Formats: sequence, C-alpha cells, structure tokens
Amino acid sequence: VGLRTYDPGYTNTSAVISRISYIDGDRGILRYRGFPIEELAEQNYFEVAFLVLYGDLPSRPQLALFTDAVMRHCALPSSVEAVVAALPHDTHPMAVLLTGLAALSGAHPEQNPALAGEGVYKSRAVQDKQIARLVGKISTLAALAYHKSTGRVATRPNQRLGFAENFLFMLDANGVPNYRPNPRLSRALEIMFVLHMEHEMNCSTAAARHLASSGVDVYTAIAGAVGALYGPLHGGANEAVLRMLARIGSADNIPAFIEGVKAKREKLFGFGHRVYKNFDPRAVIIRKDYALADEYFVSRKLYPNVDFYSGLVYRAMGFPPQFFTVLFAIPRVVGYCAHWRESLVDPDTKIIRPQQDYRGVWLRHYEPLAARA
Ligand code: CMC
Repeated sequence: VGLRTYDPGYTNTSAVISRISYIDGDRGILRYRGFPIEELAEQNYFEVAFLVLYGDLPSRPQLALFTDAVMRHCALPSSVEAVVAALPHDTHPMAVLLTGLAALSGAHPEQNPALAGEGVYKSRAVQDKQIARLVGKISTLAALAYHKSTGRVATRPNQRLGFAENFLFMLDANGVPNYRPNPRLSRALEIMFVLHMEHEMNCSTAAARHLASSGVDVYTAIAGAVGALYGPLHGGANEAVLRMLARIGSADNIPAFIEGVKAKREKLFGFGHRVYKNFDPRAVIIRKDYALADEYFVSRKLYPNVDFYSGLVYRAMGFPPQFFTVLFAIPRVVGYCAHWRESLVDPDTKIIRPQQDYRGVWLRHYEPLAARA
C-alpha cells in the first residue's frame, strides 16, 4: 500500500515542479518567470503572455510573430459560432465559454491525440499553433458570450488593434465605421488581464493539468479548467462580490452582515486566500490603501483578494456582473497553456490519480430485491 497522506484540498501537497510563476503568500509576492508582477502589470499583453508561455521576454521579431499568430487565429470556426448561437439568450456567459471551448475541440480534430495519434503534441510547432488559437479565440468567444445577452452581433476581430483594445472593439463597435475603443479603458483592461494571467497551482490550473495528464486534447483540458474557474470560491468570486454587495444594500447593513460572517452564516466573497495570508499583491496594484482592524479577520489572516477589487473595477467599466468571471478566464488561458506546455515535456508527468482513504462499509453480500424489506 505504501505511505499515504490524507490531505484534503491538497493544502500541503506539491503535485508538480514548475518554472512558470512563484508566490510567497506570507510576503505577498507574485512573480511570472522571475519578474515581479509590479514590473509587468503595465506592460503589453502579448509581451507578458510570451514571457509566461515561453520563459523569456520576447525579442522584437519574436513579439511581432507571436502577436501576429494570436491575432490571425482570433476568428472562430462557423461550427463554434453555430453552437453558441443555439444556446438560450440568458445562458450564463461562463457556460457559453465552456460550451464554446468544448466545441473548439470538435472543430480541430487534427490535434486530438485520440484521433491524430498520441505523438501529435510532440511537435513544438503543433503545440504553438494550439496556443495561438486558444489565446486569440478565447477573447472572440468571450465577445460572443457577451452578446448572447445584448442580442447584438459581436463585431469580427480587428487584427490591427492591441489585445484588450480588440476585445473592447468586438464588444462595442456595433457597425460604427472606424470605431476605436476608449484608450483609457483599453489600458485599464489590459492591466487587469496581465494581473490575472497566471497564478501557479490554483484550482483551475490544477484542473487543466489534471485533465491534460490523461492525454486529452488541450481544448478539452482548458474547458475543464474554465469549469473550475466558474465556481464562486475561485474565479466566480468577482461576480459573487457584486451580488453580495447588492444584497448588503447600504452601509447601515454592514455591521449585521459582518456579524453573520463571524457566526458562519455568511461568506465574505472577495476575502481570504489559500496562499496569500498577508495581502494579495494583485489587489494592492488595483487599490493601494487597505487597513484591516477586526479581530475575526486579523486572526484568520483574511484580506481582500484580487476578486474583491476586480469586480468593482469591471462594474465601473460598465460590464454586467455575470460577465466578470469571463474577464478572468480570457487571460488565465495563457497560464493554462503555459502549464499544458510545461507538462508535455516534464519527464515526471504521469496521469494524475490521487489516492483515497476508504471509510465505507467493508464487505457485505447481495440480497435479491424480493428479500429486502
Ligand atoms: N469569509 C468568511 N470567513 C472566511 C473566509 C471568507 N471569505 N475565508 C476564510 N474564512 C475563514 C474560514 O471559515 C476559516 O475559519 P475557521 O478557522 O474559524 O474555521 C478560516 O477563515 C480559514 O479559512 P479556510 O476556509 O481554511 O481557507 P481556504 O484556504 O480553504 O480557503 C478561500 C480559501 C479563497 C476558498 C476562502 O478564503 C474563501 O472562500 N474566500 C471567499 C471566496 C473568494 O473570494 N475567492 C477568491 C479567491 S482569490 C482568486 C481566485 O482564486 O480565484
């Protein structure tokens, strides 16, 4: 049987060796490939994505090639557009994203190991093509998800624009000739995207690696990861924060709500983190002044996390709450792809298959239905 440890939630188990991002939860440090997040936050999306994916900052020609590859792959196959169109207009945008990613798997059968053969991902060129497709198409899929509820048609991607700028263009151009999104909004959104790009072994990235370990195609692995991100304890927290604030209603109701939190009747969404126990450096970049006084929160090291502020920023930008988690998913696809790529060349990669501690009935014997009371 060997030595087994019971570690619910894997709070104390390293499942992989990784070189992509580093977090020091006590000191509030986050680094992508060794670079402090504070130095990267305001840099170009493609430059940081290249760094996260490939390990080093790109040269000028590398950046041009990567940007071009992503923007050329932004458009969605018509089969995926048709699948999304078939969904009811009030489908949650995260459910649209999940459906679209699964449909993308079907649209690119030539990269599916089950169909194309196990060695399909041995080629770096094949890997890079899937990465460019995913990094680009996720934003177009997100624009389709957005317009499910508006009833308008998402504008086709404009390859000459920056990443966040093109995304806003797909949401808002609506047939206006020479439309250009507001540069301050594009800039702010690009910073939010960079802050959310990668975060080591969080629940959804762990899910991506878990699925990929079975050898499944990368679109399916990332659909699974986005499913994990949807949950309110993870990426769905930014939407849950806004719903919680709406439920609290006014400042007068805050003390009663906080009493409810202490009595465990309520959860304070946007607070607490598995790893950050002093502050979340991403939250600090979004909003710099926060002081925590209440004993309940101090003793449990509960601080506002990135999702507390990101929801507020997205609301100020005019996005509806149900779209917030999609805005988290768009850049996090870069992190998922980086982990997928890393797992493909990791000699330690095995199918992920945790053990369990069985506490059920030890042994009993079947009785025919007629003999049961
Ligand atoms: N509100 C109230 N109490 C909390 C909260 C919270 N948000 N978070 C933790 N606690 C309490 C928890 O009840 C426990 O108390 P006690 O020791 O009395 O049992 C103590 O603090 C330790 O918490 P934990 O549940 O052991 O911590 P965890 O590492 O398992 O959970 C978490 C981390 C993020 C799931 C949790 O803090 C939480 O549910 N936060 C709210 C959801 C949220 O904002 N999620 C976004 C996280 S940041 C970005 C991302 O990952 O997507």
